[in-house]
Formats: sequence, C-alpha cells, structure tokens
Amino acid sequence: MTFRLTSSLCLVAATLVTAGPCDIYAAGETPCAAAHSTTRALFSAYTGSLYQIKRGSDGATTNIAPLSAGGVANAAAQDAFCASTTCTITTIFDQTGLGNHLTQAPPGGAGSGTDPNGFDNLAAADGAPATLNGQKAYGVFISPGTGYRNDATTGIAIGDTAEGIYAVFDGTHYNNRCCFDYGNAEPSNDDTGNGHMEAIYFGNGGDGGAGSGPWIQADLENGLFSRGTTASNPGLPTMSSRFVTAIIKGQPGMWEIRGGDGASGGLSTFYSGGRPGGGYNPMHKEGAIVLGIGGDNSNRAQGTFYEGAMTFGFPSDATENLVQANIVAARYAATSLTSGPAIIVGSAVSLRATTACCANRFISHQGATISNQIVNTTSTTALKLSASWTVVAGLANSGCISFLSRDTAKSYIRHFNFQLLVNADDGTQLFKEDATFCPQAGKNGQGNSLRSWSYPTHYFRHFNGILYAASNGGPQDFDATFSFNDDVSWVVSAAFA
Ligand SMILES: *[C@@H]1O[C@H](CO)[C@@H](O)[C@H](O)[C@H]1NC(C)=O
Repeated sequence: MTFRLTSSLCLVAATLVTAGPCDIYAAGETPCAAAHSTTRALFSAYTGSLYQIKRGSDGATTNIAPLSAGGVANAAAQDAFCASTTCTITTIFDQTGLGNHLTQAPPGGAGSGTDPNGFDNLAAADGAPATLNGQKAYGVFISPGTGYRNDATTGIAIGDTAEGIYAVFDGTHYNNRCCFDYGNAEPSNDDTGNGHMEAIYFGNGGDGGAGSGPWIQADLENGLFSRGTTASNPGLPTMSSRFVTAIIKGQPGMWEIRGGDGASGGLSTFYSGGRPGGGYNPMHKEGAIVLGIGGDNSNRAQGTFYEGAMTFGFPSDATENLVQANIVAARYAATSLTSGPAIIVGSAVSLRATTACCANRFISHQGATISNQIVNTTSTTALKLSASWTVVAGLANSGCISFLSRDTAKSYIRHFNFQLLVNADDGTQLFKEDATFCPQAGKNGQGNSLRSWSYPTHYFRHFNGILYAASNGGPQDFDATFSFNDDVSWVVSAAFA
C-alpha cells in the first residue's frame, strides 16, 4: 500500500509521533509541572534518567534512561543490572527539570510501612512488564504497603489554583482499599481536611459508578468523589481495559473526570461540574505528590502506574485528546510475566529445593502448613501426594500459574502474612491474588524462582524447613539475604504422584 499524504497531514502525523505528552501540554499552554514514567520519556527531547533501581545482592543502584531522546526506557539495562538478584525502584525522576522526583514514602497519619523507619515498601522493578511499540519496559507495580511521595515540590498547584493530572494505569490491577492515588496531597503526610488533596484515585472503592469498578475518581481528601456530590455517578463507567488513561483536572469552582482505553480510542468526559460542598470549594491544595497511597499515607491499596504528569493550569479537552492520541501511539501492550523453564498449565509437578543442605527436599504440605520434606520413590503414597501439585492457570492472572494440591480438593498454595499455606479457595479476589505466582528463571541459575503476582518482591522460599513468600532483605527473619538466591530456586519435575 502506498500513502500519499498532503504536507499538512504529514505535519500533523509527524507532530503526533515525535511530541511527548508534556510537549503537547506545553503547546496547549498548560505545561507539565511534574512528569513521571518508568516506561518512556514524556518530552521528545528528554534523555535523562527515568528511574533509579537498587539491587538486593549488593545494594548498588543505577539509573535507567530512555534508549533515545523521547524514547522507551532501556529495560535491557535493568535486566542486566538485576540478573541473578532482585531489584526495587527507589526513585521515579521528574522529567520537567523542576526536581519533583518521587521516592520511598514516609509514614503518615494513617499508615506506616515495614521499613525500619516506618517508610512504605519499594516496588519490585520487574513486577509490571509491558511493551511500548514492541519494546519491553517496566511499570510500577504497587502492592499494599508500597508508596512513593515528594513533600517538597516546586510548581505544583496550591490553594484553589488550577491543575490537570493524567496517568496510565492497569485496569486489571486494583482493589477497594485506600488509596491508589497519583496527584496532589499534603506535605505533612497527614489528613489536614477536606479539599486538601486533588489526586486521581483508581480502584473499586469510593462512591463509584456503573458496574463493579474499577473507576477513575478524585481523592479530594476525606472522600473519593465520582461527581459533585457524595453519591455514585451512573455516568462513570467501569474501566477494566488492560491500559487505562485517567484524568482529573480542577480549577476554581469546577472540576472534571475524563478517561479512556490507554491502547485505543479517545477520551470521554465522565463528570464536569461543581465542587462538592463541605470544604471543597474553594480547594486547599497543598502541593505534595503521592503515588500509590493516600495523603495520610493510607497504604492498603494496589494498582499499576506506567506514566503520568501534573500541569500548570487547567488543560483543554483538545490538549488532553492529543495526549491520549500520543499514549495510543506509544502502543502499550501486555507481555509475558514469566521467565526461565516453562511450567506447563495442566501438568503435575513436584518442586525440589536447590540449597546445598536440602537438595533432596520437596515442597510438601501437612494440613495448611507447607514445609520442605525428603521425598523419593520409596516414600509413602501419602507423602508423595503431599509433595505433588497440579499446575493451573493463575487464579488472578492467567499469565501466571497457581498450584492445586493433589490430595486436598480445591486447595491451593497461597501466601498469608507472607507464610505459604495450603488453603481452600474461598472465592475471594484476595485469595485468587494470594494464590497466583509468576515463575522466573531461578535466581541461582537452577530451575525457577516463584514470584508472587500480587507482591512481586516476594518469592517461594524455604527457611528453617518452612515455606514463606520472602522478600530479599525484607523485615522478617525469613527475608534474610543470606542464602536467598539458593533458597528461592526450585527444580520443577514431574510429580511424584
Ligand atoms: C527416602 O525418603 C524417606 C522418607 O520418605 C527417607 O526416610 C529416606 O531416607 C529416603 N531415602 C533416601 C535414599 O534418601
């Protein structure tokens, strides 16, 4: 096929392809005041660091930059740096030059993390792989307890000043807890009253709208708003596409919710109107930035962030529609969540430890408890069955797997308080998530390491003979870095029984 475009069409096409979202906002006279993405540059000329990662083996850090000016993140550099160990995201750099970087969130009025100083957890660097125009990149997979923040910003809206916010999320990763947010919050890490936040909220909490969620709403502090009153908004659709573009914008006396599919089509406006009563008009924005948490560090929510920005001023719909076209042109797509030897759905397997102490031991259960037992061809059938598992498609994500017990009906390996247990499926979303694991290449070079889907810093690990979902260097004794790679690597073979 031959394309013959007029010069003006060429110009439009070239502008769409080469401009970044923040070039588009600048052209619309509402430039970005903060621009965050681990997947790509948001300015066409940006060549600086997108994010910093830290690895578990030696605590070293490195910065990940775009492959070219305005381009996709250099995921291969991350993969090389993190080979045979674990990595977390320590900083998401602000691309505007204003220095509004996001780092590990400190404790707040409503929550603290498990860090020794009460800081929130850092996201696994490899929890949210995707492709952009066919090139691999990693989003920020926020598990409960994880959060990023900047309490000392420059140029972010305060008081009743106008601003716009957009973000790209995963419409399949959410919950109804408070609060998976991106946007404007309190620098005190505390709830300072109605109207002191203006952030995008994404999840199935709050007043909500049509269907069962997730929905794009506004966290305006002490309320997740879907409209100008505290009531469900029937015009606010469930946004469950794999990639979701979410927009909240506000100016004196009014605000809007907009959104669309981050991989195709345009934006729709789901609310445009007045502010809620009771302290939200005028607004009292304070200008800190949160990601993955509420303004008071409420940190029980989950979601995935790929990119987002906050603007000076109230962007026009036309400007945002061009940003959406740019996001669609970036061609976000899902990619494999697994690596290493394939573990085939439908097969029956046993999982052997590879630590020198224990290489004759297999993952086995006695009731709910899972331990590492010596099993071989002379073992009793009961013991063989207790160490045998049917591989099924991941209960919460079919790109990963779940392990069904072969001696206890409807019962799966799941993590609970980061111990692995065999429990009956209770039908809840939480159970499905806790029972879903994404096999990776074994961290010590043998077999597979089995990473939790919902907490991708956590892996199947034996510790004093008991099985845990352990994080490398985390707060629990079973998170010890000593022997971590060996203890999380398992050789998968045909089941004993
Ligand atoms: C085989 O397994 C049984 C436990 O089922 C154990 O007592 C025995 O020592 C094992 N045999 C070998 C050769 O490891």
